[in-house]
Amino acid sequence: MEKTPKRTFYVTTPIYYVNDVPHIGHAYTTIIADALARFQKLAGKDVFFLTGTDEHGQKIEKAAAEKGLSPKALADSVVGRAQDLWKALDISYDFFIRTTMDFHEKGVQKLFQALLDKGDIYKGEYRGWYCVSDENFLADDAPLEADGCKTCPDCGKKASPVAEETYFFRLSAYQEKLLELYEEHPEFVRPQSRLNEVASFVRGGLKDLSITRTTVKWGVPVPGDPKHTIYVWFDALHNYVTGIGYDWDTARYERFWPADVHLVGKDILRFHAVYWPAFLMASGLPLPRTVYGHGWWLKDDTKMSKSKGNVLDPHVLLKVFGPDPLRYFLLREIPIGQDGNFSHEGFLHRVNSDLANDLGNLVQRTLTMIGNYFGGAIDGPAGETGEDVRVRTDFDDLKRRVFDLYDAYALNKALEEIWAYIGSVNKYLAENEPWIMAKDPARRPRLARVLLQAAAAIRGASYLAFPVMPRSVETIWGFLGETTKPADVLWDKLDFGGFGPGRKVMMPQALFPRVALKDFLGDEAVPPAPGARQEPNKKENEKMDMVTYEEFKKMDLRVAQILEAERVPGATKILKLKIDIGTEQRQMVAGIAETYAPEDLVGKKLIVIVNLKPAVIRGIESQAMLLAAITADNKALIPFFDRDIPPGAVVK
Ligand code: MSP
Repeated sequence: MEKTPKRTFYVTTPIYYVNDVPHIGHAYTTIIADALARFQKLAGKDVFFLTGTDEHGQKIEKAAAEKGLSPKALADSVVGRAQDLWKALDISYDFFIRTTMDFHEKGVQKLFQALLDKGDIYKGEYRGWYCVSDENFLADDAPLEADGCKTCPDCGKKASPVAEETYFFRLSAYQEKLLELYEEHPEFVRPQSRLNEVASFVRGGLKDLSITRTTVKWGVPVPGDPKHTIYVWFDALHNYVTGIGYDWDTARYERFWPADVHLVGKDILRFHAVYWPAFLMASGLPLPRTVYGHGWWLKDDTKMSKSKGNVLDPHVLLKVFGPDPLRYFLLREIPIGQDGNFSHEGFLHRVNSDLANDLGNLVQRTLTMIGNYFGGAIDGPAGETGEDVRVRTDFDDLKRRVFDLYDAYALNKALEEIWAYIGSVNKYLAENEPWIMAKDPARRPRLARVLLQAAAAIRGASYLAFPVMPRSVETIWGFLGETTKPADVLWDKLDFGGFGPGRKVMMPQALFPRVALKDFLGDEAVPPAPGARQEPNKKENEKMDMVTYEEFKKMDLRVAQILEAERVPGATKILKLKIDIGTEQRQMVAGIAETYAPEDLVGKKLIVIVNLKPAVIRGIESQAMLLAAITADNKALIPFFDRDIPPGAVVK
């Protein structure tokens, strides 16, 4: 029997100007596209994800001339910047198109020629103003200023006067057809508010568009008239068809075209929602289903852009956090139609609270308990009670809702829902207090059930977040002892549970670094000496919180032996230690460099807290905290053991 072919999903990003250093704004579009591509793969579709670079035009020509390079040599020397960033962000594109690729240039010429033959392209003369930065002709009514110049209304830069022979595209002939398109297919431009903007622009009247330049040499030559170079936007927009094989891999082109969604920033919506469908209508090619115009990332309320000098380099964040916190933050913080202000405070707050606290701790606590109480393999769970059933059925509901939200591009809502569920699982654990159950052998089956339910919830909820945080979710699944990768499990096939008998989970490592703002922004970051606080005065002493014995018992204090100790470059107060806590080795950072030399410490045994949330100090993860007395001049004195005791011994 013949198999029905899988449904396809084709998603694109704009092709970025090759000479621009990609910043968080560019990363944003690409991350959205990646999350959608990964989601649609889980949904069982045959996905193609295209991105690339826009390498022709006056902007590159000018930049190359300033550097004394040929435009192609310039493009070759900088194209790696985009590719490296996409690698660091785990972007799973299928093809990276460069508009200087041979098949692309040939495809553009073929399409140009066909429109010329058809009469939709004709020769004339263009007089007007051109913005090199946006590669855009200004509208005729842009005001002439006192100095006799015009300014680009979009980027605010001075435009250049142009008077030259040109080929025009008969855009005016498509005005009615475009309006019909918006009417019949309102999903063509999303979000809805942008459709209204685009339609009113078109209703205002379309003039024919100059699509060649004689004064720009760096571009695709007009076939048969090479003193003309094809306008960079005519060239660039066609990457969406040439990039999947138009005229060179017809089978692939036919399989994927038309695109399901072109993701673009709202700055370039007009090119995609007016010119592009008009070019396609003229060529008789099918139209993409949706052009999604997303909002901008702003810095201090202004669009992040090179010309404004307010761009943020994603590599700085990636170095400290890896890709997932940035991916999560950008997609979680704003709905994709709206603008958002980027601040490091906002970023760190989200990462610390949603990732390190809510998700990271849930994973850490659950797996550590399964490790400690069951040696990693849960046995003999009791049957489900009502609240256990709720953890399961809530997940099934969540899975359905999250599917629809991803499918409707509501990525922030999808994440919001997943994290609400993670919060409810944390609450379920807190209310059941498995650490107390563990003390009573009679409650072991119940303890097994609660931990099993939490582990299944982690497995399920993290799977739902996979399109956004692929690397972390793969790690979590590894901790859970999964042998399959989340990417290989279809959405429909994912069940709650998946923990057969004998499944062994691992002791988790910290998933997300916890970084304080002052450490991140590079202030002299000195962690307080362990236990440091001002001498409490009497009054404070009186209102000091009392701790119950139950609360104190939650602290896991152990004997640890120092295996290695070293200074941290650039820091005067802290040392990095490697310690043995009996069951494993850990690294930690302690503010003891003013009291101890590293060589005095190796071999010594002391007391550490092993179940404190890990912290990142000076970029180093500290996985334990030692106990020390604080002297009057604020130095730390460590109580060492004076007789032999094995590392790991309990202190209580
Ligand atoms: N080369 C054209 C696109 C041709 S597509 C056929 C171009 N390139 S660009 O390098 O300027 O990239 C523009 C895209 O980068 C925007 O449309 C948007 O997707 C993204 N962003 C650039 N700055 C941005 C923000 N500050 N915020 C969000 N996205 C932004 O235009």
